[in-house]
Amino acid sequence: MNEPLFGIENLDGYVVIGIILFFSLLETIAGYLSATKRTFSDWIQEAGGFAALSFVYKPLIIFIAFFLGKSLIPNVQNAVADANLWLVLIGYLLIDDVLQYWYHRFGHEYSFLWKLHRPHHQAEEMGFFVSYRNAGLYYLMMPNIWWVGLVIFLGGAKAVAIGLIAKQIIIIGSHSTVRWDEFFYKYKSLNPLTYVLERIFVTPAFHYAHHGKSMIDGISDPNGNFGNMFSIWDQLFGTAKFTRRFPLELGLVNDPKDKWTAAYFYPLIASDKSESEIARGFRKDLTTKLEPTVCEFQKDEKYLWCKCGRSKNQPFCDGSHHGTKFKPLLCSAKREGKAKLCNCKLTKSAPFCDNSHKQAENL
Ligand code: FES
Repeated sequence: MNEPLFGIENLDGYVVIGIILFFSLLETIAGYLSATKRTFSDWIQEAGGFAALSFVYKPLIIFIAFFLGKSLIPNVQNAVADANLWLVLIGYLLIDDVLQYWYHRFGHEYSFLWKLHRPHHQAEEMGFFVSYRNAGLYYLMMPNIWWVGLVIFLGGAKAVAIGLIAKQIIIIGSHSTVRWDEFFYKYKSLNPLTYVLERIFVTPAFHYAHHGKSMIDGISDPNGNFGNMFSIWDQLFGTAKFTRRFPLELGLVNDPKDKWTAAYFYPLIASDKSESEIARGFRKDLTTKLEPTVCEFQKDEKYLWCKCGRSKNQPFCDGSHHGTKFKPLLCSAKREGKAKLCNCKLTKSAPFCDNSHKQAENL
């Protein structure tokens, strides 16, 4: 496809593999791999997912995009081939990353897409391969891979190659157990530089927070920090959380540990565990009630109040909000004693009951 980057055939491919080898070497040297608790199912989803994406999905999508381009818009083939490389590169990267931001965000907010993206969040450890852990169908529908195909068709192969290298460095770096950003948090004098860096690029701390199990730790935000290469989209669209800290617990609350076949091939293969979101016939019904629950708290006790109305442990969150636009409310008890928490989710003074359920009763 067009001329090779810097005159070297497949240079971008070599560099991506080089980056993976680099991080795997670092992780191995650091002893992380020997301490891993990953199961066979985890390995096959991560390493197999990487191989499938690199050698099947991406080439297939680029081939189809080329075919569609030639059939539907042949006049614009190579339209940007003579344009300024850096302008094409910036345009390619910004559009690529904003597409991925929204696709990733929808992967958390819409039930079907969540079921395809959920394997990514079942990882209980980070590592460079976690970035490749999603259901196969998730990748087939990924808009930014189609965008790569289109840009190459338009003659921007060189920009794509450079952009992919830069993007892989950031994404693999943000999933790696080598937390390169910790160095920057150690020295106060680096604060201004760190501030700028984390407000442009996704750092490990920013992305680890997205993989944290629950907001209860005050660090994690599994329903925020959706950015991939740039953190600017999260800041622009109100989903950014910067703490410069790393959650201790990663993964999903109530993970039913589906077999890798179901996780990867859903919806072709469903989970055989009835409590799993990817089991046939699984439903997340509303569990709201028109009466509050009286709960007892210790002073400063933290809890997550369910906002989505689907928790099986009302009025508290049990993680059932995944696949909806809701996320729980992190609360802290101001004093020791009892409090009446809302279960109807109509209250205007959440998490407390304000008797809104009485109006609903009269409807
Ligand atoms: S279960 Fe988490 S907000 Fe409802």
